[in-house]
Amino acid sequence: MSVVILGIESSCDDTSAAVIRDGYLLSNVVASQAVHEAYGGVVPELASRAHQQNIVPVIHEALKRANVKKEELSAVAFTRGPGLMGSLLVGVSFAKGFARSLGIPLIDINHLCGHVMAHFIQAEGDEFDPPKFPFLCLLVSGGNSQIVLVKAYNQMEILGQTIDDAAGEAIDKCSKVMGLGYPGGPIIDKLARQGNPDAYHFSKPHIADLNYSFSGLKTSFLYSLRKWIQDDPDFIEHHKTDLAASLEHTVVDILMDKLRKAVKQTGVTEVAVAGGVSANNGLRNAFREHAEKYGWKIFIPKFSYTTDNAAMIAITGYYKFLDKDFCSIDMPAYSRVSL
Ligand code: KG4
Repeated sequence: MSVVILGIESSCDDTSAAVIRDGYLLSNVVASQAVHEAYGGVVPELASRAHQQNIVPVIHEALKRANVKKEELSAVAFTRGPGLMGSLLVGVSFAKGFARSLGIPLIDINHLCGHVMAHFIQAEGDEFDPPKFPFLCLLVSGGNSQIVLVKAYNQMEILGQTIDDAAGEAIDKCSKVMGLGYPGGPIIDKLARQGNPDAYHFSKPHIADLNYSFSGLKTSFLYSLRKWIQDDPDFIEHHKTDLAASLEHTVVDILMDKLRKAVKQTGVTEVAVAGGVSANNGLRNAFREHAEKYGWKIFIPKFSYTTDNAAMIAITGYYKFLDKDFCSIDMPAYSRVSL
């Protein structure tokens, strides 16, 4: 009998549902929330209200596109955390009610683990060459910047992580200071393609071990801008591509410096990248350059699996299902939880 998993993701501002049959992705529906753009960041209360509106149609659409009836489902996998509590509760509550009504198991998924597992999503027509355990994964998103040693799908060790801001958060904040839209990551990425990455230099952190810090870069960016704007009030408008390229270059350098160190320390040369910031073209290029220069085998996810999506939740759920690793109906949502 085939194993059919419904995955549900609602940790932040994307409502998503996906269906996986025997490890193959059949559908992955994502409803993003444009409502936050006007505020320059995610407004938690608006996010949970939008999830409430979206959850039923999104799940309905995912089942329809997969051509799967709800009675065919083997289990419901849902994001337990980390994330915004109000957002998580919508997905968690729906998953519990749905699984209970169908009499099938529930599977709780750590959102960060899901991002790493995005490399195991297999869809019809896709080339499928997943990393072999153990591999390293640079997990970079709006809320996290971590280097993870992935020993098995359910055994991940954090080797280093940010001690303050995440890389995506720093990019978003610098973009906001420049008066660009939200989220800043894709805007900075686009502008950076036309700019000079060596035009400006911003301070880099000196942090021990494999940890990261991005708050100093943010401050350095802000103070430099203030100074330049005193001389030329239109400085940002005149130099935005060079500013974006230099900012992106600094973030990528910081990320790759520690990743090289992690490869050296562990001897592991299969290296993946995951999370929203892994959509960044500068970071993707740096991965390709490192593969060439240092002989790494690299794994870069498809763009659609970089930002929040339920396909990554469903595939992690599939592996947990095979191990019969289910959770009880009283499993709470966790806004803060590590890998
Ligand atoms: O993983 P994600 O969708 O959400 C979580 O934080 O869990 O990541 C969102 C982050 C935001 O900071 C966004 O600006 C960043 O990913 N991002 C990018 C790009 N696309 C999204 N950052 C740089 N370049 C991009 N192309």
